[in-house]
Amino acid sequence: VDEYVNTSSAGSGCCAFYEQDWVHALAEDSFHPGGDALTRRTVAAMALPDAASVLDLGCGTGTTALMLARHFDYRITGLDLAVGNIERARERAGAASDRLEFVHTDVQQLPFADASFDGALAECVFSLMPDKAGALAEIRRVLKPGGRVGLTDMSIAGQLPGDLAEVVAPWTCLADALSPQGYHQCFVDAGFEVQTLANESDGLRQMIADIKRRLLMLGAGSLLSDEVAQAPALDLATLKHWLDRFRDEVNRGSIRYLRFQLRCS
Ligand SMILES: C[S@@+](CC[C@H](N)C(=O)[O-])C[C@H]1O[C@@H](n2cnc3c(N)ncnc32)[C@H](O)[C@@H]1O
Repeated sequence: VDEYVNTSSAGSGCCAFYEQDWVHALAEDSFHPGGDALTRRTVAAMALPDAASVLDLGCGTGTTALMLARHFDYRITGLDLAVGNIERARERAGAASDRLEFVHTDVQQLPFADASFDGALAECVFSLMPDKAGALAEIRRVLKPGGRVGLTDMSIAGQLPGDLAEVVAPWTCLADALSPQGYHQCFVDAGFEVQTLANESDGLRQMIADIKRRLLMLGAGSLLSDEVAQAPALDLATLKHWLDRFRDEVNRGSIRYLRFQLRCS
């Protein structure tokens, strides 16, 4: 992990972290707390029309886009700045659906026409944007009038303790995360109506517990896959220590996972 601590802050540096096979294996290809259940809740609250065109911003290896293509009649465009993630997403999709495509691009410079999408989903990616106002202006530009955004992300209240800020923040989407009020102001300033703000931190606690469980199995040697064996000097005791510190801050309420439902006003 130390090898990646300094690759932040945000932007393309963090993409390299999320592109690695051992990170995919530990997270089981889903890089946001709450998993499919939270995605489904977020999408339901977007109240999209039938056959809606939907962007999955920072789609990672395509887990959410694939799930949406399987269960809904939407036309889905997943995009990500990490070329390795887009390649993996395309491989996973195969010929699964002709309503699904993956594009290698930056949320802050979208290669789409104005008013071309009904909705946009942003799971654990907006916090990573160095230029949040610029990213929101782009998202708003490509959405149709009244278009919906479902956004879930990490949030920090106040200052993180120094050890966490230095070691954990860069690889947990926290380095450039905002307070709940900070996000709210950003969205309003960008011309979005904030319809819902919900605390989804239970999903974060569950994700920490799941990663610890996988690490324990690794420690027992029962699940030592080729991918995880490539982890740079993976020190299980150190990882467990940071996961425990992280969970303590979630329990204290200084770190939260939030869901915002937005509408272009
Ligand atoms: C924490 S992962 C979340 C992935 C996916 N949304 C999920 O929930 O499984 C963050 C993703 O955002 C991508 N990313 C970071 N900055 C980006 C940017 N400026 N434009 C597009 N993708 C970006 C990373 O490459 C990574 O795949």
